[in-house]
Amino acid sequence: MNIVVANWKMNGDIFLAEQFVGRLNEIEDVCEIIICPPAALLWSFRNFKYYLGAQNCFYEESGAFTGENSPRLLKELGCDYVLLGHSERRALFHESDEVIYRKWNAAVAQSLRPIVCIGEKLDERSNWKEVLSRQLKNYIDRRDLNDTIFAYEPVWSIGTGLTPSEEHLAEVIIFLKGILPTSSLLYGGSVSSRNIGGIMSIDGVTGVLVGGSSLKIEEFENIIRQMSENSQIYIIHYEVSH
Ligand code: PGA
Repeated sequence: MNIVVANWKMNGDIFLAEQFVGRLNEIEDVCEIIICPPAALLWSFRNFKYYLGAQNCFYEESGAFTGENSPRLLKELGCDYVLLGHSERRALFHESDEVIYRKWNAAVAQSLRPIVCIGEKLDERSNWKEVLSRQLKNYIDRRDLNDTIFAYEPVWSIGTGLTPSEEHLAEVIIFLKGILPTSSLLYGGSVSSRNIGGIMSIDGVTGVLVGGSSLKIEEFENIIRQMSENSQIYIIHYEVSH
């Protein structure tokens, strides 16, 4: 099933959470919807029929780590997923690839499925392969990545309205598939109801990570609707060719 992840970042409130739960619970099971609200709003999603994700976790189980949340507690709060290594965490909170990998290990130990974000900055565009290889170096030889999702999010496309060309995205996905053959691959960065069709038409893209457009219920429902149309097209092709 295709995957739509909503990254609310530090936005939303209890009212919006309840509105989303009410509206999205009415939607048929057509794709995997994962909402990642701020940690303080996770409880407001307790009756959500789809999946919940945290935006971050710490790598220790408990202790003197003021302000942090452990994978075990996030799991208790109903999370099945956790975003790791978002570019805002890397830039604003100085998270290194090593720290992100420690968090990955801690999340996996609690059966929290990691969604690891990777992507090059504007001034790194010409050597994107090198940047992605560096960000992925800890995962490359692992055989246990079936439950890890990777989201390709070029930093220059986040919140800017800019997206990579379909040709470039296709090239990145082929590159990632080569080193992460068993993981689901998402695209993230300025995803909207206007560009979702083109993004999902690229071979190997199994879903999207949506920031700004995931905070407006009509827009988000529109994205989900188009994702389901996309998966129906996929099923028809599948039946015809087999
Ligand atoms: P955006 O954010 O959709 O607002 O560009 C994506 C993200 O940061 O995950």
